[in-house]
Amino acid sequence: MPDAAHLATLAADGIVFGSDYNPEQWDRSVWEEDVRLMNEAGVSLVAINVFGWSDINPAPGEWDFTALDEIIELLHAHGIRVNLGTGTASPPPWLSRIHPEILPVSEDGVRAWPGGRQAYCPSSPVFRSYAAEVVARVIERYGSHPAVALWHVSNELGCHNALCYCDASADAFRGWLQRRYETIEALNDAWGTAFWSQRYGTWDDVMPPRRALSLRNPGQMLDFHRFSSDEQLGLYRAEAAIIRASSAVPVTTNFMVTAHIRNLDYWTWAGEMDVIANDHYLDNRLPLPRAELSFAADLTRGLAQGAPWLLMETSTGAVNWQPYNLAKSDGELLRNVVTHVARGADGICFFQWRASAQGAEKYHSALVPHAGTETAAWQRVLELGRTLRALAPVVGTRVRAQAALLFSWESWWAAEGEGRPSEALAYLEQVHAAHAALTAAGLTVDVVRPGASLDAYGLVVVPALHLVRDADAAVIADRAASGAAVLITFFSGTVDERDAVRLGGYPGAFRDLLGVTAEEFAPLEPGHTVRLGSGAVGSVWTERMRATDAEVVDAFVDGPASGMPALTRRTVGTGSAWYLATQPDAAAYAELVSRLAAEAGLEPDASRIPGVEVVRRQGEQGSYLFVINHSENEVAVDARGRDLLTDQPVDGAAVVAAGAVRIIEESL
Ligand code: GAL
Repeated sequence: MPDAAHLATLAADGIVFGSDYNPEQWDRSVWEEDVRLMNEAGVSLVAINVFGWSDINPAPGEWDFTALDEIIELLHAHGIRVNLGTGTASPPPWLSRIHPEILPVSEDGVRAWPGGRQAYCPSSPVFRSYAAEVVARVIERYGSHPAVALWHVSNELGCHNALCYCDASADAFRGWLQRRYETIEALNDAWGTAFWSQRYGTWDDVMPPRRALSLRNPGQMLDFHRFSSDEQLGLYRAEAAIIRASSAVPVTTNFMVTAHIRNLDYWTWAGEMDVIANDHYLDNRLPLPRAELSFAADLTRGLAQGAPWLLMETSTGAVNWQPYNLAKSDGELLRNVVTHVARGADGICFFQWRASAQGAEKYHSALVPHAGTETAAWQRVLELGRTLRALAPVVGTRVRAQAALLFSWESWWAAEGEGRPSEALAYLEQVHAAHAALTAAGLTVDVVRPGASLDAYGLVVVPALHLVRDADAAVIADRAASGAAVLITFFSGTVDERDAVRLGGYPGAFRDLLGVTAEEFAPLEPGHTVRLGSGAVGSVWTERMRATDAEVVDAFVDGPASGMPALTRRTVGTGSAWYLATQPDAAAYAELVSRLAAEAGLEPDASRIPGVEVVRRQGEQGSYLFVINHSENEVAVDARGRDLLTDQPVDGAAVVAAGAVRIIEESL
């Protein structure tokens, strides 16, 4: 279970400043300089041995810990704590030579070759047994070493190998299905195999959803996603069990709450981590990279159930895995880091310490750049260290949020299955649009799982929650009845947990709550828009719907659902339930959210200045106002107290220069 005490121990001296450290890529002569520079910058936690397998176990049955011993002692002697990788992230070449069957297989039946990383099938019993031995050896050697402050299981489990379709995976999938459904009849029922003559008579015929000639069975694909996430979690569990048997040091693995990874259902993982840790890189392929960063940070905090969390990896500058790897602009590193802290991170770690000279990541930025320390980049790192030290008072405080946004990986898988109404409906884009609207309305948002208690929130937004369980839909309805304003958007509530359509009209599970019924989806082609009576512009979606027991607040004036409701409202108990049947333009969406917030009696947390992010963290020790000015203008925000970075008083208005950040300890 995540326990705030673990991170509190790690952050006892202030916000953790750390990095991945790969000394095996360097000559021993560099190591002394490394630790000296770490001390200079204030780097106090380093992840080592993450990709160490081939060094500590260079050949079958051969173990060599000389270099790792030396590096751990060196770090320890310099007061730098170790986030010790179990070393299983990437099997050494000899393992796939003697056991090629561990290599993962794609949905087309093509077996991957070694040569990159993470080249193993997550279900392979052979891989699992070799990995277990590595973990056991590492624990045996370092389990009670005083430098070890955190265990780092594997690395980004499922980053490359989340979905494997090999025979070992097929066996494991059948076992998983038998545990879930018990009888083959129940499986047939769940997957709707009456369709296209897919009925199974025996478990032996059941396969992973390998590439087929036509659309595949959606229930099978959904369960394969669930299974695949569970298999990766199984890898974590197996390693964590070995560690926990002989070490009391907290155990975690680094999540990938990002826009481009969607195969792991972290809601089901979070409870097994001692510390919630996330890796996040700015994704410049997106239209609004920094908005995605804010969302990801809020979601990570959701996984930590509101407690502080650890940013395990991010970058000082460009990455090397996007098509165009943009350098950070002036002040962007600081803004990114402060956004993470504002949204609950009590530790900021980077990939990686020293930029590699060789290997696939040689053009990835690092704390120590290729050009060395006589550089502006190194000065930025030193400045960052100073900033993080100045933020020590915020450690342990929590973000105050008035609104909740529901998010589900399982629903994401279902919503983007084959044969869906429109490929223009991308679940994450809908979630991001809702999050952006809430942020633009000056509200701070907790991202929560379906079924989570909503009692703390006056406003609840449910974007495109396609798959929903009855019990989880009931929590939403109950919260509307008890006084919240609830906004549900199109394609929500349509299927149950088997991915079977809820009959009787869309949006199925929410039809009664919302007092609407739709008989036909009428999605829009990319680039096409519709107008609403209010003047708002809709895109992506419309539907042919009528209000059965709701007020029509806005309607389509053109397009395939012309004349039909686009936005409805129903009074429910002391609250309200709203339905939005299109994606409104950003300004209209923010206005709508503001209106709902006002209806629910919520005051915006922040003045609504475009491009300015304002978040509050609060705790027994005080209240901290984070202002991140992404805009090109100087702005002023109401605040009173003390500026944590300059130690100067703030009396009424905090002026924040273009591109700058301010963190104010508020006098209340
Ligand atoms: C992460 C990974 C690191 C490194 C980094 C580069 O996905 O955990 O090992 O590859 O990306 O951005």
